Amino acid sequence: MSRIPEVNLVPDPPFQSLKGLEEETKLLRTAFGCFPTGVVAVSGVANDEPVCLIASSFVAVSIDPALVAFCVQWSSHTWDILKVLPRLGISVLGYQHNESVRRLASRAEDKFEQLNLSISPEGAVFIDGATAWLDCTLENVLPAGDHGIVLLRINALTTRPMEEPLVFHGSAFRNLESKPADG
Ligand SMILES: Cc1cc2nc3c(=O)[nH]c(=O)nc-3n(C[C@H](O)[C@H](O)[C@H](O)COP(=O)(O)O)c2cc1C
Repeated sequence: MSRIPEVNLVPDPPFQSLKGLEEETKLLRTAFGCFPTGVVAVSGVANDEPVCLIASSFVAVSIDPALVAFCVQWSSHTWDILKVLPRLGISVLGYQHNESVRRLASRAEDKFEQLNLSISPEGAVFIDGATAWLDCTLENVLPAGDHGIVLLRINALTTRPMEEPLVFHGSAFRNLESKPADG
């Protein structure tokens, strides 16, 4: 007997075809927002000033070699500055950054105000209070539609897993809530 249930494709709300849909961008953003992620700051120094890009598309890629990745919009001015730097710092943001993160993603001149930064001798910039710092070198950029997949090699790292992580879900920032296990 087949283990596949009877075809019953009646989701609620119904499927929407993306073909020819005017609201495609909005619909895709809503769908992508259903996937909870962390948030990282990708930072370096250019012209003696710290520069950072906020990304929720960060992902761990490989243990050997040690690789991580994030997706960057080709139109990003910040990426144009960061991509030529010899070292990039990844700060995995904690819940304590929840009020700073939108400002960090903006073009405000004083966006690092009220945050403490640490800078490595090679120029990787890190945000204090993060749950992990990864000192990275750009490995490759792979084209993927209107974004590039940026592969970074980790040279050195430090972690503070006891820090409360910052979670991004449905366009909002949250912290994790522990619930007692069932039973
Ligand atoms: C929570 C959050 C997540 C984001 N994730 C990404 C991302 O994964 N990739 C990306 O290119 N931009 C992302 N952005 C937008 C950039 O951080 C930044 O706002 C944008 O690069 C600014 O444009 P500019 O670089 O041209 O100044 C995110 C912004 C926020 C607030």
